[in-house]
Amino acid sequence: MSPFAHITGWGMAVPQRIVTNAELALRIDTSDEWIQSRTGIRERRVASEDQTTASLGVDAAQRALDMARLKPADLDLIIVATSSPEHIFPATACLVQDRLGASKAGAFDLLAACSGFIFALNMGTQAIRTGAVKNALIIGAETLSRIVDWNDRNTCVLFGDGAGAFVLQASPEQGGVISAVMRSDGSGGDLLILPGGGSRIPATHKSVQAGQHYVQMNGREVFRFASRVLGQATEEAVKKAQLSLDEINLIIPHQANQRIIEAALRGLDFPVERCVINLDRYGNTSTASIPIATCEAVQQGRLKPGDKVVFVGFGGGLTWGAAVVVWSAPLPAARRVMPYRYRLYARLRSMIKRLMRRLDVLVWGRRNPYL
Ligand SMILES: CC(C)(COP(=O)(O)OP(=O)(O)OC[C@H]1O[C@@H](n2cnc3c(N)ncnc32)[C@H](O)[C@@H]1OP(=O)(O)O)[C@@H](O)C(=O)NCCC(=O)NCCS
Repeated sequence: MSPFAHITGWGMAVPQRIVTNAELALRIDTSDEWIQSRTGIRERRVASEDQTTASLGVDAAQRALDMARLKPADLDLIIVATSSPEHIFPATACLVQDRLGASKAGAFDLLAACSGFIFALNMGTQAIRTGAVKNALIIGAETLSRIVDWNDRNTCVLFGDGAGAFVLQASPEQGGVISAVMRSDGSGGDLLILPGGGSRIPATHKSVQAGQHYVQMNGREVFRFASRVLGQATEEAVKKAQLSLDEINLIIPHQANQRIIEAALRGLDFPVERCVINLDRYGNTSTASIPIATCEAVQQGRLKPGDKVVFVGFGGGLTWGAAVVVWSAPLPAARRVMPYRYRLYARLRSMIKRLMRRLDVLVWGRRNPYL
């Protein structure tokens, strides 16, 4: 029988800097009352100058590895879901791989906007179910503060920075991720878009002057789409898992807007007390919102081994999806690992590799030693 993909480690990292609604109201035409009543958001975290999408991702990943008692070198696969990658390439996942010292892992980014974490969770699960991969690291990491226009009140009040990570491990025990659905509708691509900086509209003085390097959104249309698909995806994933909604202990939705979540729960006839909502403190952290909310739910004792939980998300693309998971505990570890020690090893290894590359050039010049 094919192995099951269990979530055996989880971790989150958010910047220390808090930006309240009142602080935003000092620089743009908005108010705490407007933002709270329309979205439920009170404050969000914003990365400091030295924090990046990869550095937040590494911090979250390290905590998840620590929890799973897994060495970085045990990882076979790293997927970073992000809407704010450090570059178009190299993948942010490769930066994370290098800093963790995950010397045996293939690493790539997955771009499905705010649904990215669900899509990555499903991809990691499928890789484990085939037997090709034993240990996978799934990260949602964002520095959205760098791609929103802080003078655009339609968007800047909504988003925040942060990261969350899951370790997925193969196990013969039934459970873990038991179903998932992924959906897309590219006809709505223009509703939530970062138009510039890609190959269609390369960065130029003109594109920057026009603000095309910032997130643009049709809020009303996205709201309508999200309220509809949140419930639909939940129902589909639950049905695929051959369960009923009554058997679901907890729903952890993408944290975009309290009104979207409440509308979807009403449609499902699912009690709001069995749903995790923490967007009041973080805003919309895109791919990071679901793993951050999960870490807090576990910490608060709301999610225990054996519980059945639905993760459900939606976002630009348009994309949406959900997964049903039987929550696990860390697998029994053969040994104690100290992941922070590996961070130092990883740094050293990376430095030596860069140095070797330079030496290679010194010794061989422009000649290729392999020819
Ligand atoms: C953006 C959003 C909060 C706007 O709420 P809304 O109730 O739909 O508000 P409307 O779009 O009807 O705008 C109402 C008015 O408020 C104004 N407004 C917009 N942002 C504002 C702000 N931050 N402060 C004060 N007023 C604001 C608008 O300009 C509009 O003014 P007008 O009527 O004079 O044109 C809401 O549409 C939303 O959350 N959409 C989903 C966005 C989302 O989740 N995106 C991420 C998906 S992953």
